[in-house]
Amino acid sequence: MIEIKDLTKRYGSFTAVDSLTMDIAKGTVFGFVGPNGAGKSTTMSILATLLAPTSGSAKVGGFEVTEHPGDVRRLIGYMPDFFGVYDNFKTTEYLDFYGASYGLSRAERKKIIPQLLELVNLSDKAEFYVDSLSRGMKQRLCLARCLVHEPELLILDEPASGMDPRARIEMREILKELKLMGKTIIISSHILPELAEMVDEIGVIEQGRLIAKGRVSDIQQGMRANRVLHIRLLEREDEALAMLAEEPYVSMSYLDEQGIHLHFGGTDADQAALLGRLIGHGYRVVSYSEAQTNLEDVFMEITKGAKLS
Ligand SMILES: Nc1ncnc2c1ncn2[C@@H]1O[C@H](COP(=O)(O)OP(=O)(O)OP(=O)(O)O)[C@@H](O)[C@H]1O
Ligand SMILES: [Mg+2]
Repeated sequence: MIEIKDLTKRYGSFTAVDSLTMDIAKGTVFGFVGPNGAGKSTTMSILATLLAPTSGSAKVGGFEVTEHPGDVRRLIGYMPDFFGVYDNFKTTEYLDFYGASYGLSRAERKKIIPQLLELVNLSDKAEFYVDSLSRGMKQRLCLARCLVHEPELLILDEPASGMDPRARIEMREILKELKLMGKTIIISSHILPELAEMVDEIGVIEQGRLIAKGRVSDIQQGMRANRVLHIRLLEREDEALAMLAEEPYVSMSYLDEQGIHLHFGGTDADQAALLGRLIGHGYRVVSYSEAQTNLEDVFMEITKGAKLS
């Protein structure tokens, strides 16, 4: 659905997006993450045909964004990270206006607008002036606006920023529904644990470069150095702790009520070998597992400069 190759955007001598190359398959929910100023919004604006790249190529649905912006726009719904002016529109009129500008007939608009309001939980605000809506509601309306022409691809730049936790959960539910509808979604956010639950893939961008991309679980797998093992033994845990502390790849070890915790820098094979030695020493192992690193940890680790292969 999206093919980006060597995409570069410079502002004067400053490089905001630096030879970015990545593909996003149809139907994928892709989380675009990175610190402030990493180049997320810049990349998304280029995909949305609103900003011209300095060099490189970006294709949406097979159309080059610079050559066929009209075709690209028909395929996408873009939600920017800021809001425009709403004049004196009521919620329904606002969506009607956008529907009309996308060439939807009056009958089509009449049909889809209530559905969209329902989807974003704004049915009860249909006759309210947009300016009277709260920020979170405006964000949801903005999302509804992106959907009037039933685009295949949604480009959502921090759709949940500035929302309270409840509104964020609602937004997450809406995005889940959109995923079920088969949309391809590219979404940027700083709120990583929330993204983790709904994205299929993440791409981490820093200083305009893609430093990691893949399934959330694969990226976590790649982070060998940060692996935490949790071990429970039937007895003699303190004795085992002393032995484990001397093992290769163990950088830190401690014991608490839950058992033994090890920071382990080895591979899967090293991890299996370690279990073998424990059992070989006669320890009765009740459980031997890898603590789940959450996406926040992954993000901090990766953006520390630890690049993945
Ligand atoms: N119009 C512009 N002129 C000059 N520099 C710009 C312009 N727009 C963006 N930049 C710079 O490009 C870099 C990338 O900005 P961008 O908005 O893409 O980052 P971002 O990843 O979306 O960050 P955030 O998380 O803060 O939204 C920043 O250093 C920014 O200052
Ligand atoms: Mg941004």
